[in-house]
Amino acid sequence: MIDKTGGSASHFPGPLSEELKKLRDQNVPVGISSVMPVYVEKTRGSTLIDVDGNEYIDFAGGIGVVNLGHNHPAVAEAIKKQVDKSLHTCFMVVGYEPYIKLAARLNKFTPGDFPKKTAFFNSGAEAVENSVKLSKRYTGRAAIISLENSFHGRTLLTMSLTSKVKPYKYGFGPFAPETYKIPSAYCYRCRFGMTYPACDLHCARYLEKFLTVECAADNVAALIAEPVQGEGGFIAPPQGYFKVLHDICKRNGIVLILDEIQTGIYRTGGSLASNYYEVEPEMITMAKSLADGVPISALTGKAEIMDAAGPGEIGGTYGGNPLGCAAGLAVLDAIEKENIETKAMEAGKIAADRLDRMHGKFELIGEHRGLGAMRALELVKDRESKEPAPEAVKKIVKRCHDRGLIIITAGIFSNVIRLLMPVNISADQLNRGLDILEEAIAAEQEV
Ligand SMILES: Cc1ncc(COP(=O)(O)O)c(C=O)c1O
Repeated sequence: MIDKTGGSASHFPGPLSEELKKLRDQNVPVGISSVMPVYVEKTRGSTLIDVDGNEYIDFAGGIGVVNLGHNHPAVAEAIKKQVDKSLHTCFMVVGYEPYIKLAARLNKFTPGDFPKKTAFFNSGAEAVENSVKLSKRYTGRAAIISLENSFHGRTLLTMSLTSKVKPYKYGFGPFAPETYKIPSAYCYRCRFGMTYPACDLHCARYLEKFLTVECAADNVAALIAEPVQGEGGFIAPPQGYFKVLHDICKRNGIVLILDEIQTGIYRTGGSLASNYYEVEPEMITMAKSLADGVPISALTGKAEIMDAAGPGEIGGTYGGNPLGCAAGLAVLDAIEKENIETKAMEAGKIAADRLDRMHGKFELIGEHRGLGAMRALELVKDRESKEPAPEAVKKIVKRCHDRGLIIITAGIFSNVIRLLMPVNISADQLNRGLDILEEAIAAEQEV
């Protein structure tokens, strides 16, 4: 039963959702799973209403896709206008203005005062695939380095670059050759047993050694990293980390690709997390909140790298579909008009203050961390041993769902609760959602 704190209806999941579940079980493979046992009827802002009329506060935002809120009016309007003009010609057959305009905007939106170009694809994984393809062609090298605890997608190559074995990789090998991993800046569980700042960013400097002991620099095309690791548990490296990595990459002719698919578009407070880390990578991948729900991904990079492939060597039938480009342009306009940066900072501050207080109150919370509005709690059985507490996370999340808060997990040990609410959520709705989360943790702490 859903109570009235988050939602407005009385049965969860309701009869219509139950009916859809039966149909789903017969027709949709189990590998495609859903966190919530309900089916959506309508979404607006930070609110989701299911087919039975139950109302939820949405702290998942379609996994970080609607940073500007569900059905943003200006974005919806831009999509409707584009529907009336043209739905598809394939940019590789006949081009269209929104593609070119969005590319020009993203070339300015991304850091770095050098000539840039942008190509569009359908999904985050596809943008990552193409960043690797272009890096290989540009450098003439074969190997790619990624980080432990990373997530870059579910295709063969992006799965190979990804870290978490279950559920992402188990039984799906063999993986793409010449893919290597180095430890990430997971300070809470440092792989080198060190402590920041005394470590002097040892994990970043380790790349130098890696290029001697594991894979020769002149074989490495690119290093790809999320500025804040998303699925890995919202792991934000200390300031300075990416400067060290980038410096080593530059000295060795390695392309640095920052995967901003989850961190981008004001999730971490500013427009891109690369700006926070004061790094100008050669390439940036973006997707998710770029178009507030229309599938599109972007790869923006140094013009000379982006031009390394000849005509027809990159692209795809649907890449940069007019609806996605129109939506992307509307998102960028709305960001400017609606002061999204300030709103994202405010939402991040409210969440950070409350999660800090929860950390002080509940032993179960090993660490509160994040950047801007990208915040998470890592739960442990015991703060001394740091033994992960995935079972407690499951129960807490279920309690939140029952009370009308949609919230999701992350973490290499599945013991992290993450917040991906729209960054323009009202303070009232954000606090109501955090109340539900706090009560759910309190109930678990008492068990
Ligand atoms: C950092 C990062 N890279 C890549 C992806 C893959 O994106 P998609 O699911 O659109 O292929 C994701 C998805 O969660 C992501 O968070």
